[in-house]
Amino acid sequence: MKVRKLTGTIGAELSEVSLAGCSAETAKAVQEALFEHGVVVLRDQNLSHEDHIAFAEHWGQIDVNRFFTPVPDFPQIAEVRTTPDQKTVIGGGWHTDHSYDPAPAMASILVARDLPAFGGDTCFASQTAAYDRLSPGLKETLENLSAWHSDGSFATGDPELKVRRDNTGVASLHPVVIRHPQTGQKALYVNGDFTTHFDGWSVDESAPLLQYLYRYCTQPAFCCRVSYAPCTVVIWDNRLVQHYAVADYQGQARLMNRITVEGQPLTA
Ligand code: SIN
Repeated sequence: MKVRKLTGTIGAELSEVSLAGCSAETAKAVQEALFEHGVVVLRDQNLSHEDHIAFAEHWGQIDVNRFFTPVPDFPQIAEVRTTPDQKTVIGGGWHTDHSYDPAPAMASILVARDLPAFGGDTCFASQTAAYDRLSPGLKETLENLSAWHSDGSFATGDPELKVRRDNTGVASLHPVVIRHPQTGQKALYVNGDFTTHFDGWSVDESAPLLQYLYRYCTQPAFCCRVSYAPCTVVIWDNRLVQHYAVADYQGQARLMNRITVEGQPLTA
């Protein structure tokens, strides 16, 4: 397997590796690259739905997303679909998948199925780089804070998005600075879609510092941007990066299939 870094901070393209029917050893090598780079891009992958599930299961149990429409006959795979009449898209703001869950998903594995003629990229921001570059003073403050994350934005968010709204009501508390469960790297862990407030602070008191962190932690030096071609697979580690689906292909359809793999409770 060859690894080519996308930037000095985040992301790598992996080549000379095939995910369909791969061995446990290959799946482990891909996971190690993921833990190092936060997001990995694999081109020309011919993955059936069964291959997609089999690859995910090398890494753990599939964490079924309760809001997304599943692929017919494959409840483990979520459809991330945009229809030509939509002006907004699922994931069209900086966020971390499943941060509202007590044990947030480890990885998301996205397979490009139907792409617009142009646009529809995904941006990623390294939350380890963001943590590393904080001042010692703010690091210390944030390391003593936890924040609440809620799935309520699925209930109150954009009604155009085709997600289920009958299943909301989960909120979870996580440290603001987490340690990656496998590598021990420290990362910032708050996001604009799901974080509501710091524990012990009101929503109003939390807002200025959270807004500062959202701007700070998604600045271009921490980011990469991935463009898709047919058969592109992109995998990200939700403990290491945030992501943002760019809504710049209005009037066109886009369909991605996503599997999220279970994670574990996060600790400081
Ligand atoms: C997501 O937020 O998981 C979807 C990303 C994308 O569609 O680019």
